[in-house]
Amino acid sequence: MFSPEQIRKDFHILEEELAYLDNAATTQKPDNVINAIRHYYMKQNSNVHRSNYELAELATQAFESSRRTIANFIGSEPEELIFTRGTTESINLLAYSFFVGGLIEAGDKIAVTIAEHHSNFVPWQQLSKRFGTEMVYVDTDDEGRISLSEVKKALDKGVKLLAFTGMSNSLGVVMPYVEICHLAKERGVLTVLDGAQLVPHHKVNVKEVGCDFMAFSAHKMLGPMGIGALYGRRELLEKMVPFLYGGEMIDEVTLEDTTFNVLPYKFEAGTPNVAGTVGFGEAIRYLARLEWGKVQEHVKKLADVLIHELERIPYVEVYGPKDETQHSIVSFNIKGLHPHDVSQYLNSWKVAVRSGHHCAQPQLKRIGVPATCRASVYFYNTERDVERMLEAIKNITNEFPWVG
Ligand code: ALA
Repeated sequence: MFSPEQIRKDFHILEEELAYLDNAATTQKPDNVINAIRHYYMKQNSNVHRSNYELAELATQAFESSRRTIANFIGSEPEELIFTRGTTESINLLAYSFFVGGLIEAGDKIAVTIAEHHSNFVPWQQLSKRFGTEMVYVDTDDEGRISLSEVKKALDKGVKLLAFTGMSNSLGVVMPYVEICHLAKERGVLTVLDGAQLVPHHKVNVKEVGCDFMAFSAHKMLGPMGIGALYGRRELLEKMVPFLYGGEMIDEVTLEDTTFNVLPYKFEAGTPNVAGTVGFGEAIRYLARLEWGKVQEHVKKLADVLIHELERIPYVEVYGPKDETQHSIVSFNIKGLHPHDVSQYLNSWKVAVRSGHHCAQPQLKRIGVPATCRASVYFYNTERDVERMLEAIKNITNEFPWVG
């Protein structure tokens, strides 16, 4: 039986009197994740894949067991699941490898949407500038939705690769990612799905979705920071050149040349963040035990209450579609106040939200604002958190009398 009140007992930090509504930036970590990392350092710490002694064997088992758990969670093979520092590194890995390895060449067209986080925008844009490829932008509507007709229009320009988010971090729009992958596949276009916001909220099976690559981060789904993953279709990963060179990723090194290790190690140079992967695996085990239907319903309900109650306040402007396509994220502004002042004011009410451009400047420009306040809900949030934030916003005129 799903009960947020019960669940909160697994999260020490939530005992503090704080409405933590910045989950799109990072989620809190349950005790099992923290304990697994502690256990690793206390009982298993050593380097992986390098030594024959028992401790090293334990560390290697923990590392590979996490990989299997995470791969299983997204429906991939373990060899197709590469550990990275997070979504940003995963996408940079792809961009570098495509360009340097010749999978993408000068003159090729790369499509990205304007809903992207900068980490799925800037790598493609900057490498385009150096390698002479052409950027094709998929527009959103005024609420931040991507329509299939806009995607088709872009793909029909002869695009080689489409990089797009499954759920926008600035407005919380869940994109029609399955249909988009289908359209791309029909046209032989490679797809890079940014799952950083999507995977923490939606069960994504990469084989069913049909994406070629998917990037996601542990820390947005109960795991530690500095660890994430890149899923890639095996045939494509086999063709790609490594991103980082060094130990672990090699097969044989001679003075003349180097041959590379098999998947996934070819893309995992150097000593990995083993403790991070252990925490990531535990986070996934925690998530896998939840009733996802109930979790999604709860998160949607809390975000919808925020949207609808904020909309009733005349000095508040709420962004995004405000319908079934918007999930967990509520971006808003108070007329006449800078969002940084609003988030600081909310802090005095013990409400934590993010303010700024959310590393999504093209999207904010498209909806006509330089910055917003962003409240983002996860399954351990309660009606109390939402009520506290709404009460604070309703009282904001006491602090800033000119508002409204
Ligand atoms: N990418 C994170 C966010 O959207 C940090 O806030």
